[in-house]
Amino acid sequence: MKKSIVIAPSILSADFATLGEEIRAVDEAGADWIHFDVMDGSFVPPITIGDNVCKAIRPHTEKPIDVHLMVNHPETQVEAFARAGADYITVHQEVSPHLERTLQFIRSLGKKAGVSLNPATPVATIQHVLHCVDLVLLMSVNPGYGGQKYIHAVTDKIRDARKMMDDAGCEARLEVDGGVNVATMAEVAEAGADTFVAGSAVYGKPDYAAAIGELRDLAAG
Ligand code: DX5
Ligand code: ZN
Repeated sequence: MKKSIVIAPSILSADFATLGEEIRAVDEAGADWIHFDVMDGSFVPPITIGDNVCKAIRPHTEKPIDVHLMVNHPETQVEAFARAGADYITVHQEVSPHLERTLQFIRSLGKKAGVSLNPATPVATIQHVLHCVDLVLLMSVNPGYGGQKYIHAVTDKIRDARKMMDDAGCEARLEVDGGVNVATMAEVAEAGADTFVAGSAVYGKPDYAAAIGELRDLAAG
């Protein structure tokens, strides 16, 4: 069965000085989830926000908070984000030697477990953890920054992931992150994604509701 469409604005492109307001604004504008990018200055060059900020924004929305951990040793952050009120906690395959254990740990805390792949990492690397995954997050830019250009080579990878997940009977959501905007949305959706992160394509626009609405229409085809 085809999944509903989820539009997840990334607060990386929001005004951090007024983060609570920025989150309420996209919530009221029709966002389905709030995408929360955590960077450690090591796995990726920038440092962004941690579990204390997740806790601070939690009262500002009832929508799911979708935490994307772009950090080394992500398993060390899982408990703190679970406590801070995250709903989805996603770790990168590239820095998770004991990936199955980490995903099961996230689930044991009552949270949805996500696994993410950089553009260069093959989908086959997660084939044997699909039984304990609620979200597969494919990066369509090299992680670290908002506002980058979509890497079109990833479109085939989305198709491959969709097929692999369907063949395995995996019910997880398939999320794409990076360069998703009005120019690329149709391509991403057609390839089989159902969950779309959009940073600059929402927070970079003057009218958040119009931006989310337009992305949703394009995703629906
Ligand atoms: C990039 C982050 C993304 C980023 C997407 O490393 O993981 O979530 O905010 O930004 P856009 O949608 O502008 O490419
Ligand atoms: Zn992200």
